[in-house]
Amino acid sequence: MASYEKPDFWALKAQKEGYPARSVYKLKEIDDKYHLFKPGTSRLVPGLPEPGIRILELGAAPGSWSLYVLRLYAKTGKPAALPGGRSGSAENAILLAAADLLPLSRRFDGGLFDRKDFFFIQGDFTESAVKGELTRRGPYTTIISDAAPATTGIRTVDTLRSLALAEEVVLSYAEKSLAPGGNLALKVFQGADTAALLKRLREQFNNVKSFKPVACRSDSFETYYIGLGKR
Ligand SMILES: C[S@@+](CC[C@H](N)C(=O)[O-])C[C@H]1O[C@@H](n2cnc3c(N)ncnc32)[C@H](O)[C@@H]1O
Repeated sequence: MASYEKPDFWALKAQKEGYPARSVYKLKEIDDKYHLFKPGTSRLVPGLPEPGIRILELGAAPGSWSLYVLRLYAKTGKPAALPGGRSGSAENAILLAAADLLPLSRRFDGGLFDRKDFFFIQGDFTESAVKGELTRRGPYTTIISDAAPATTGIRTVDTLRSLALAEEVVLSYAEKSLAPGGNLALKVFQGADTAALLKRLREQFNNVKSFKPVACRSDSFETYYIGLGKR
């Protein structure tokens, strides 16, 4: 086994704590520091009369981030109401909507992925059918993306593909489906020219940060951009 594949401290901790991937600790660090999901965001949203949360997750498999969110909020968090008084449909009660090319692992979910307030679509979030399904269930109070391309090992190729995914998250989802006051966290591989992406984020959010969690592998070139307070 190559050293990169050996289960490390974080991977072993994840298995012990019932998560399919070590990446859960990256989200936890980001959330602890920036309070991504803080309920109450919807107070800022015209048409959302009560505080509530409605989260969109892009690149969700095998499902550690989804489990983190559901374990935190499925019992206590109130799904945000949709603006305009739309009611009566299951879509109105969505707490977390998620998408990935791959299926979620059911190894640790204990039934959480069967909840009616959780929606998962297996597909490419850059394609219009998936965009339609996810956009219809918005607006969201937080958007999180850990999406990453299948890596080739050629850094320029991998960073450009990662940047393309990040741009899609911002242009197709954050700009259109993130409610005012809402927060965004998205992964991007460092190396490509992210100046245009950062400029867009600074135009969209009151506060933009770049953050590399301790739980990232020491040899990883990923980082996260955090947008706080959508304008
Ligand atoms: C690092 S993994 C996410 C891990 C996840 N946060 C967790 O905690 O379990 C990155 C994921 O992005 C997904 N992905 C990459 N491009 C995608 C796309 N265009 N549409 C949907 N999912 C995509 C991959 O299939 C992969 O499962």
